[in-house]
Amino acid sequence: MNAIEVRYLHKTYSGLWRRSRIEALKGVSLSVKQGEIFGLLGPNGAGKTTLIKILLGIAFADRGQAMLLGRDSRDPHARQCVGYLPEEYQLPEYLKAWRALDFFAKLYGVHERRSRIEELLHLVGLAERRNSKVKEFSKGMRQRLGIAQALLNNPKVLILDEPTANLDPLGRKDVKDLLIRLKDQGTTVFISSHVLTEIERVCDRVAILHKGQLLTVGTVDELTREKSLEDVFVELVRAAQETEKL
Ligand SMILES: Nc1ncnc2c1ncn2[C@@H]1O[C@H](COP(=O)(O)OP(=O)(O)O)[C@@H](O)[C@H]1O
Ligand SMILES: [Mg+2]
Repeated sequence: MNAIEVRYLHKTYSGLWRRSRIEALKGVSLSVKQGEIFGLLGPNGAGKTTLIKILLGIAFADRGQAMLLGRDSRDPHARQCVGYLPEEYQLPEYLKAWRALDFFAKLYGVHERRSRIEELLHLVGLAERRNSKVKEFSKGMRQRLGIAQALLNNPKVLILDEPTANLDPLGRKDVKDLLIRLKDQGTTVFISSHVLTEIERVCDRVAILHKGQLLTVGTVDELTREKSLEDVFVELVRAAQETEKL
């Protein structure tokens, strides 16, 4: 059983009076194996967040199917095995790190809250800063705390939407190391990104999405045998844009 299975997913947003219709996904199919780190790469507006929202049962596809660990993503039980960190997520600024986690742990009804929070603070490298307020944290530290929050319910699949978009190289390195630790623990990680960074190097496989269509899927090694991932990305997107003009 795959962690994530998406088949022929179509999603069209229709604007007021149906004048503006945006085809956000045009028949996307992909699968993510359990224990993999999978990167969904694509420029802004490619459809990455839409695909993630469908996986989480927040948005609904017009056609096609999205499955999480064998369950349809519309099934509320499917969500119990998923952790999610949205794009540009805001944590409560005036809470101490552990308090912020405790707040959400209570909300989710996490068992053995204290020990789970301690475990997560260590995992994300914030144990020493447990008593610092979120407002004192760097962007990288906030992102790691956000990931700890997304892990509170011990999910088998972790979905991170643009986790490194606003991070400096140090913050990216910390998130990258954390992803490797999660993989070692057996967690499946699905990340989306519009910026190409060294983060992709930790992905077992990446897919490139452009205007709702997958341009390629493969291991980073396969895709970068002859050129850098950035070159592959730019060439595929440019070629797709040229085809559109014809
Ligand atoms: N709620 C919405 N209503 C209308 N259009 C939307 C909505 N959400 C996204 N879109 C459009 O769908 C396309 C894909 O958006 P999105 O999935 O957010 O892409 P990405 O996350 O790759 O930047 C974009 O053209 C965007 O403007
Ligand atoms: Mg997005």
